[in-house]
Amino acid sequence: MKSKILELLLKNTSDYLSGETMSESLGVSRAAVWKVIHQLREDGYEIEAVSRKGYRLIHQPDRLSPDCLAPYLTSAALDRPLIHFASISSTNDYAKSIALEAEEGTIIIADEQSKGRGRRGREWHSPANKNIYLSMILKPDLPIQQVPLFTQMAAAAVWEALEPILPGLSIKWPNDLMLENRKICGILTEMSGEMHALHYLVIGLGINVNTVTTDFPEDLRTIGSSLRIETGTVQSRQKLAANVIERLTHHYNHVMQTGSFESALDICRKRSNLLGETINIHTRDSVEAARAIEIDSDGRLVVETASGMQALSSGEVSIRKS
Ligand code: BTN
Repeated sequence: MKSKILELLLKNTSDYLSGETMSESLGVSRAAVWKVIHQLREDGYEIEAVSRKGYRLIHQPDRLSPDCLAPYLTSAALDRPLIHFASISSTNDYAKSIALEAEEGTIIIADEQSKGRGRRGREWHSPANKNIYLSMILKPDLPIQQVPLFTQMAAAAVWEALEPILPGLSIKWPNDLMLENRKICGILTEMSGEMHALHYLVIGLGINVNTVTTDFPEDLRTIGSSLRIETGTVQSRQKLAANVIERLTHHYNHVMQTGSFESALDICRKRSNLLGETINIHTRDSVEAARAIEIDSDGRLVVETASGMQALSSGEVSIRKS
């Protein structure tokens, strides 16, 4: 009921909503409405009450807790467990620590990370209340070879959630979302399993939402960006996080129902900033020039090098545009 009342208040921020209207539309007593208003205030919502007019939401806390996200989520996404931390070391680390017992589809979300991790052992800068740090636990009954496809699925889902705000957003295979040459989101997929049995998969998303340039460490200021830097306006982390969860849920359900990743892969192909480009493939001890040709149905990047065609799996290489 709390989320329903919040939803009504959010829809009517320019007007007052009487206790009577709310109690009638939700089929509960006015006392019950008042109790929820009281709880919401305790949770940090600023709600104005004017006699004979009703209630009006003035300010909502900027948190990614289930209560705050619920009004923006549809039922399919609401069904999954959502665990929120104001601050945690790393949502991926926490997700891995509970993955074996956790319900499939559990989401861990935090307002801050003290030890956020990026790929290749790098740190993921995770200041408080600025961005989205989210991990999803999945347990698909699929071989581990298909794990890279889930990174593509996540990239497509995040692209769909962010692109309406950032037209021109592109996907840099295998796991970055970029605007021009600046990174807006990074994806860290981790798993536990054996050759033919995947125990679990954790997809971690770091989305730079409201960081300003000075929030980034100096060495990242020219390569990292955020929705706020690019649009010039503060964005609702709650709406964005809810959209990301919606799109992830949609794509994952689709994959489970159809066994096909093609609709997500198509987004990655169409929005790729590498396909058709000349790129440099960096391995531990070499750099090779290539042309990016295609993302194949296994989610691999097909490239043409001086020595012929190759299909690259994520993880083994780092790609730079030349
Ligand atoms: C990268 O581009 O290097 C991947 C960055 C992934 C960061 C996210 S934030 C949520 C989750 N928890 C972590 O510690 N890392 C991922």
